[in-house]
Amino acid sequence: MGAHTAAAFTLDDLAVFDAIHLRQVIGCVSGAVSPALAGRAFAEGQRPEPPALAALAQRIERALAPADAAAFALARWQPVTDEERAAAGRAALDQLFWELTYWKTPDEYERLTAGEQVHLGALAVARVDGAVVLDAGAGAGRLTLPLARRARCVYAMDPAPPLLRLLARKLADAGLANVEPLRGAFQCVPLPDDSVDAVVACSAFGPHEARGGERGLAELRRVTRPGGRIVILWPEDPAWFVRQGFHYAILPGRLTNTFASLDDAWAVTTRFYGADARRYLDATGCPELPFDTLGVKPPSDICWLTVRKS
Ligand SMILES: C[S@@+](CC[C@H](N)C(=O)[O-])C[C@H]1O[C@@H](n2cnc3c(N)ncnc32)[C@H](O)[C@@H]1O
Repeated sequence: MGAHTAAAFTLDDLAVFDAIHLRQVIGCVSGAVSPALAGRAFAEGQRPEPPALAALAQRIERALAPADAAAFALARWQPVTDEERAAAGRAALDQLFWELTYWKTPDEYERLTAGEQVHLGALAVARVDGAVVLDAGAGAGRLTLPLARRARCVYAMDPAPPLLRLLARKLADAGLANVEPLRGAFQCVPLPDDSVDAVVACSAFGPHEARGGERGLAELRRVTRPGGRIVILWPEDPAWFVRQGFHYAILPGRLTNTFASLDDAWAVTTRFYGADARRYLDATGCPELPFDTLGVKPPSDICWLTVRKS
């Protein structure tokens, strides 16, 4: 996954989120935009807001949980300078960059990840052959398609409908009929207790509450049958998982990050990576960006846990 560099979005792009998602991405939990910051971004300031932004602010306020809505409204009506309002807007957009990418420009996200190989050894660790599997934070299905070819049935859960639509198209093209796309989040998985043999999550689940956290982990345990496995591929913070009782390993082998064409590599680099990556492409003239040139660990880190219930 890249480190974004461009100011790709504006505040009115938040209109793409529905009420469920606004409540998920703005709130007083770690990893979400704080209601006070969001309120400052939409503050009246010295110049009145354009009507469309004012209407969006009202929609956000109505979507939030009551205490968050109160903090958002309070911040909106505090006096701020135009510079403070602009800075709050930039900070909020920066935090929401990936969510806006998933919702507003899913094709750009697909282009970013299309060539980014992830380590399929994770599927063996999760023991997915013939199993019922939850792909948690499935996105556009980078792991879902290989999973569907081995598992009996896959629930592909994600909070972003645009990515789930992309996934449905890819499944239809591949003739795979054993996947059920589900809208849902780690914090509240829409499946019964003990209903899956394994959970896999690739580049999605993390320690912050908005990305799962302890509450999300309790949910993943709840839906996994005793003896089943939870496997986190490409975790951002392996040490956190180890503290939760997970094993940690780096799967062997080299993974590549190779785009379909040099044009794709340029487009992705311009949107998601910085000047160093552009210089690298210039120098090599080939559509590959090795993970080490991007300063990211390759997607071969894995944390896994066998679920025990007493
Ligand atoms: C970097 S993408 C990875 C998608 C996919 N697993 C892959 O490897 O291509 C992160 C995904 O996590 C999803 N996500 C973000 N917050 C989530 C949450 N609280 N619960 C479940 N999924 C979440 C996003 O919508 C997005 O699809």
